[in-house]
Amino acid sequence: MVATKNDILKVIEDVKLLSPSAVELLAVASRANHDLKDIVRVIKYDAALTAKTLKLVNSVAFSPQSKISDLERAISYAGENVLVSLVMSETAEMISHCDLAGYDGHKGGLWDHNLLTALASKRVAELSKEPLNSNIAFTCGLLHDIGKAIVSDFLKGSLATILDSLDKGEVDDYASAEEKLLGIDHTQAGYALAIHWNLPEPLPSVIRYHHEPARAAEEHRSLVYAVHLGDIVAMMTGRDTGADAMRYLLDSRYRDFIDITDDDLAQIILETDSGFMKLKESMNE
Ligand SMILES: [Fe+2]
Ligand SMILES: [Fe+2]
Repeated sequence: MVATKNDILKVIEDVKLLSPSAVELLAVASRANHDLKDIVRVIKYDAALTAKTLKLVNSVAFSPQSKISDLERAISYAGENVLVSLVMSETAEMISHCDLAGYDGHKGGLWDHNLLTALASKRVAELSKEPLNSNIAFTCGLLHDIGKAIVSDFLKGSLATILDSLDKGEVDDYASAEEKLLGIDHTQAGYALAIHWNLPEPLPSVIRYHHEPARAAEEHRSLVYAVHLGDIVAMMTGRDTGADAMRYLLDSRYRDFIDITDDDLAQIILETDSGFMKLKESMNE
């Protein structure tokens, strides 16, 4: 029997909460005027994260000239994006280790796609007509598809039905096919999870509207468009997440928000792919 929206919302209510320092870090990283010192203030009260940060910056991937034992130096050496990625991969294993079986994906595929989207969204945000904090775009990109970790289990066995309804034109995109089948799609499930995890705005809004950016509240719309386009760029690198890759609509009104040429886009696809390899290498140490 196919699950209902209420079954899925019930599962979300029981998802393990993020650690208080992870929530605090995401809250700090989502604030418009934050700097590295704010990040240091969060990490230094968490012994496990402090140890992991120091281990990371002293790894082969970063290979500092001399050993770094001071947390502030370590954080400025690694940079905010690496730190936020590290904390999410350590504290939200349901995202970083998700196998995306319901999407016919592979283990780690969701995490890879989230990293790619984070990198691409950051670059796109730099070209936003309304000035955006590109680090916030990175964090939003990193979390945009968390709902897939929930919905994936409920999609198992329904791939043929979904592809069939897409091929027949009964639905416009993969998210609509999810909603038709389950009464909820991965953006709504992701929004519910973001609220359950106490994530601050703009994260819930970006998660909810990344496939329908025009519906986002005006104050978040430029950022949502940046992640919307970043998500498509991530898929265009060819490192797909599974059966849903490239089965979403691109809202061409992104041009009203992002000052980007086709050449810029091609360049960003290349940079996203090489940035991804580097980031993965540093995270795997
Ligand atoms: Fe998505
Ligand atoms: Fe995505």
